[in-house]
Amino acid sequence: MGREWLAVGFSRILARMSFPQTRMRRLRVNESMRALVRETHLEPANFILPLFVVPGDGIRKEIGSMPGNYQMSIDRTVEECREVKALGIGGVILFGIPETKDELASGGYDPNGIVQQAVRAIKAEVPGLVVITDVCNCEYTSHGHCGKVVNGEVDNDATLEWLAESALTHAQAGADIVAPSDMMDGRVAAIRAKLDANGFPLTPILSYAAKFASGFYGPFREAAESTPQFGDRRSYQMDPANGREALREIELDLAEGADMIMVKPALAYLDIIKMARERFDVPLSAYQVSGEFSMIMAAVRLGWIDKDRIMMETLTSIKRAGASIILTYFAKDAARLL
Ligand code: PBG
Repeated sequence: MGREWLAVGFSRILARMSFPQTRMRRLRVNESMRALVRETHLEPANFILPLFVVPGDGIRKEIGSMPGNYQMSIDRTVEECREVKALGIGGVILFGIPETKDELASGGYDPNGIVQQAVRAIKAEVPGLVVITDVCNCEYTSHGHCGKVVNGEVDNDATLEWLAESALTHAQAGADIVAPSDMMDGRVAAIRAKLDANGFPLTPILSYAAKFASGFYGPFREAAESTPQFGDRRSYQMDPANGREALREIELDLAEGADMIMVKPALAYLDIIKMARERFDVPLSAYQVSGEFSMIMAAVRLGWIDKDRIMMETLTSIKRAGASIILTYFAKDAARLL
């Protein structure tokens, strides 16, 4: 009886759900109808714009492979931040290019380093804008690796102190959020302990939890002058083939005290974003990285694709996959369109 009833019910539903009773085009007839049923919305408040800060004054040097993005001195970075805030963009993430690099990445945790100075200036001049700092060593080491190199290898545990100290000096300068991107094991716990012990229990950690060893970082390394001088980052960043491992990385970072997590890159890793969204109830961000941006801009320059459409389509798919926050070099352009 129950089974028959079910079968009848199903066939009725199927009949009702098939053509010509059902026409999917009914809800697509015009823009107002499409807007009414739209499932995913982008908002400037959820964008983060990456900025590259260099020493000096009045400097605004375009990054060749990233049209519309610049290495800027602190004064120009502050101007840029004013514009970012006026556009309603959620925040900025800062990367520093120091005057000199050394084996010990000392520019990274110098209380008067380039990022620390930039944070102080932005917090003073553009109050209310969320300032995130990237916590890593690759911009500060002479060899370009993300940690301390011992016998030709990046030494995990020796690197943790540099990271914790960098994060602390960023927080002392006024950073709203610190974001470790180095992929050393145990860095979130080390940073959390350091912040808590020094009076910053309320500074959140946005962990680049699932960061893959990706070819899409190429243009960034020109922008941040951080290409490794030997080897590559595959012994610390993740293998692009691994999805389950990404979930473990995220789980571990959350256990260590991460407040927010990131998947990076974005477009080639939408499945990871989706899995992370389903599994973890914390703010989830995704980084549409330099190569994703440059690839689009190159095709735009050749006249092969339409910039605005592809920009919005890629950002929408990242959000649809489950990211609530998107780090993107398109932040200003997309905010203007919205
Ligand atoms: C630093 C860092 C990188 C990026 C963000 N933080 C480069 C890298 O890991 O090589 C890449 C961002 C981008 O490509 O836009 N470790």
